[in-house]
Amino acid sequence: MNPTSPETVTDQLRWRYAVKRFDTTRVIDTRTWRAVESSLVLSPSSYGLQPWHFYVITDAGTKAQLPAISWGQSQPKDCSHMVVLAARRSLDEHYIDHYLASITKLRGTPTESLAGFRKLLLASIAQSEGKHLDWNARQVYIALGQLMTSAAMLGVDACPMEGIDTEAYDRLLGLTDSDYSAIVGCALGYRHVDDKSATLPKVRFDHQEIVTHVAAAK
Ligand SMILES: Cc1cc2nc3c(=O)[nH]c(=O)nc-3n(C[C@H](O)[C@H](O)[C@H](O)COP(=O)(O)O)c2cc1C
Repeated sequence: MNPTSPETVTDQLRWRYAVKRFDTTRVIDTRTWRAVESSLVLSPSSYGLQPWHFYVITDAGTKAQLPAISWGQSQPKDCSHMVVLAARRSLDEHYIDHYLASITKLRGTPTESLAGFRKLLLASIAQSEGKHLDWNARQVYIALGQLMTSAAMLGVDACPMEGIDTEAYDRLLGLTDSDYSAIVGCALGYRHVDDKSATLPKVRFDHQEIVTHVAAAK
C-alpha cells in the first residue's frame, strides 16, 4: 500500500475539469494509458458482475466521424483516446455462470460452494427483469467516475460525455444487435493551452449545503 497524500487527492481533483478543447498534438503514452485502462477493469460493480464493455477509439479516421454523432462536440475527435462505456442490455443464467466460473478460476472456490451465491444472483436478476440495462448503466457510471478520477491522478485530462448519440455509436461499433449498448463516453488526452474552461472557477454548492455530518441517533 502506498497511499496518496490528502493534499494530492484534493489538488488533482481541483485540477481536473471537463475539457472543452484538447491539444490534438498530444498522445497519452502507453504506460500511462495502461494505468488509465486498468482503472476501468478494476472498477467495482454490484455483486462484482461487471456488466460492461469498454471501447477505446484512437484511430484518426474513426475519431473524425465522432463529432457528427456527438452533438457536434469536437472532444471525441481531438482527444488522444476516446472511450465509449457500454452496458450489457440484459443479464441471464449463462452470464451469471460465466461470472461464477471466473471466481472459481481466480480464487479456486469450488463450484458447489458458490451454489448459494448463484441462487441469490439468479433471484436478483429475475426480480429486476426488464430493468437490467438501467441497472447495468448505473454500474457503468461507477466506472466512468473511477476513470475520471484515475486520469486526474495521472495528470491526464478528460471530458465525460453524455452528449453523444448512443444509437449512432452502437451502429459505429457494431453493437446494435449485440449484448451491449453504448451509455456514455469519455474523451481523454491533454488540454489545449487556450482552453478557456481550464481557468474558470469551479461551480460547486457550498460544502455545508450538500454534506451533513449526522449526529448520533437517539
Ligand atoms: C455524466 C456526465 C456527462 C457529461 N457530458 C458532457 C458533454 O457531453 N459535453 C461536455 O462538454 N461536458 C459534459 N459533462 C461535463 C459537465 O458539464 C461538467 O463535469 C460539470 O459542468 C462540472 O464541471 P467540471 O467537470 O469542469 O468541474 C458531463 C459530465 C458528466 C458527469
